[in-house]
Amino acid sequence: MLVKKVIVYDTVSSTMDIARNLEIGDVVVALSQTSGRGRKGRSWYSPRGGLYLTIVTEKMTPCRAVTLSSVGVVQALNSLGIKASIKWPNDVIVDKKKISGILSITTENKTLIGIGVNVSVENFPSGINATSLLLQGVRVSAFRFLFLLLKNLTRLYSIDQHELFEMWKSYVDLKDRKVLYDNSLWEIVEIDDECNLVIRRDDKTLRVSSLDDIKLIYYDEDMGS
Ligand code: BTN
Repeated sequence: MLVKKVIVYDTVSSTMDIARNLEIGDVVVALSQTSGRGRKGRSWYSPRGGLYLTIVTEKMTPCRAVTLSSVGVVQALNSLGIKASIKWPNDVIVDKKKISGILSITTENKTLIGIGVNVSVENFPSGINATSLLLQGVRVSAFRFLFLLLKNLTRLYSIDQHELFEMWKSYVDLKDRKVLYDNSLWEIVEIDDECNLVIRRDDKTLRVSSLDDIKLIYYDEDMGS
């Protein structure tokens, strides 16, 4: 079972900090965070109006955590009539702007999946290319979205990983994209079975994972990688 208990806080430093001491099946939710964390050491803008949660699951591969969480968010948005795509590996994009970000961390025996969703955030600091459900014309509470998200995640958790992977791939938008790596532009060849990007430049081919500590930037946008 993915979700056994949901613990709700008003404000925390980061739901990732609280989740660290919880058990598999626990979900920690906050209505704002004072030190929200993003991928690659970035911070996550976490004002009231957003939804911030971390799900504690049994240990998963990075690919399973990426596919489960991002497909769950996309399908929860779809159920409210919002069309979304995934910017590899797991940024959820609406109208070319980020609406949700996901950070997963695996420890010795569990995986923490942290999800931030801009539910009714109205303004973002300059430099953040983001949108929210509210800015897309959908007015729901953070709790309503939490319910939809957990419902979708629970359903997806029980389906075969290959099927989930294929669903994820169908949402990943790689059209017209190139990767800036090592100060050069690389072409994207494909996504392999472990959710890595296979990139090519001249006669050199590389496999890059979202967990690799490498500089990987989409060339045509400035939303980070
Ligand atoms: C990213 O896009 O860089 C990932 C953002 C992840 C944000 C969520 S909000 C809930 C959880 N707590 C955090 O501090 N971060 C994750």
